[in-house]
Amino acid sequence: MIGIETLDEFIIRRQEKFPDAKGELSRLLRDIGLASKIVHREVNKAGLVDILGDTGTTNVQGEKVKKLDVFANNRFVASLKMGGACCGIASEENENFIIIDDELSQNAEYIVALDPLDGSSNIDVNVSVGTIFSIYKRGSLQGGFCQLADFLQRGYEQVSAGYIIYGSSTMMVYTTGKGVNGFTLDPSIGEFCLSHPDIKIPKSGQMYSVNQGNYSKFKKGVQKYISYCGEDDKNTNRPYSLRYVGSLVADIHRNLLKGGIFMYPSTSTMPYGKLRLLYECNPMAFIVEQAGGKAINGKDDILQLHPTDLHQRTPMFIGSTDMVNMLSEFIDRFSVSPSI
Ligand code: AHG
Ligand code: MN
Ligand code: MN
Repeated sequence: MIGIETLDEFIIRRQEKFPDAKGELSRLLRDIGLASKIVHREVNKAGLVDILGDTGTTNVQGEKVKKLDVFANNRFVASLKMGGACCGIASEENENFIIIDDELSQNAEYIVALDPLDGSSNIDVNVSVGTIFSIYKRGSLQGGFCQLADFLQRGYEQVSAGYIIYGSSTMMVYTTGKGVNGFTLDPSIGEFCLSHPDIKIPKSGQMYSVNQGNYSKFKKGVQKYISYCGEDDKNTNRPYSLRYVGSLVADIHRNLLKGGIFMYPSTSTMPYGKLRLLYECNPMAFIVEQAGGKAINGKDDILQLHPTDLHQRTPMFIGSTDMVNMLSEFIDRFSVSPSI
């Protein structure tokens, strides 16, 4: 394939620039790429094989677990265990973190936080879903078991973060802190091929993403910003368009490429919002900031938050810098104390 650069070639080429890189992060990214190809295959057969619908169980979040949640979780965990490049995994589908205790993995430098299947409510209705991952260097001693503290690092400590979107095509978008690149899976050769080099999010955009159904439960500043988005003002290209898929990966991916703001605010019933800091907000914040955007919880940068629990939630406002800054002004102007 003239001019085609596969994910593996890209990772290896990038690794050569870092002489001290021992190739472990490269192996880890390729293990994730492998697992996502297998999940892609199942997602694309959904409806033909028995992976639709509920398992009849609920996860630690108290949410119904779909068969594809379990399939994806098992697949990514198995691939990371087999690869030997990480010593532990914190997954949305597991209450506690998973210690990988074979000798090779015990000596691995990295831990992974994972949302194996994002947008579960959309699986049965054939709407795009995704996988989100976040990679840190362990703080605990290599050779021993990983510790909880390895997973409770601030988002700016991430070594790498990415997502796979199983949509009209399957794409992997990731960063290692030196920009953001997108790879589209070519099923005819089974390879992710570089299709979106050096992604930059537009400074502003025409789309805002929020579950409008929660409007009455939002804080005043957020309500005022949403009204601002719908006002008619040609000078500032308003009204914006409301685009909300209900899969974080799909909403963020669209806004990353076209510009826009995604909001999952706190509400009176969910005071910390719905999205999880470790395996949804931090990885997405790292990616969007690396692409030139911004991600806050309403007051502070997402990447500065200090996690205290594997599954803790946080409000998140993320996307084009000018739009997040404008929202921030509304929150400050209309909040009694600039709380979130
Ligand atoms: P998950 O399927 O991993 O639980 O994530 C679902 C999340 C996220 O993908 C999406 O942005 C959000 O739930 C949508 O929530 P609402 O349906 O409450 O709007
Ligand atoms: Mn999710
Ligand atoms: Mn999920």
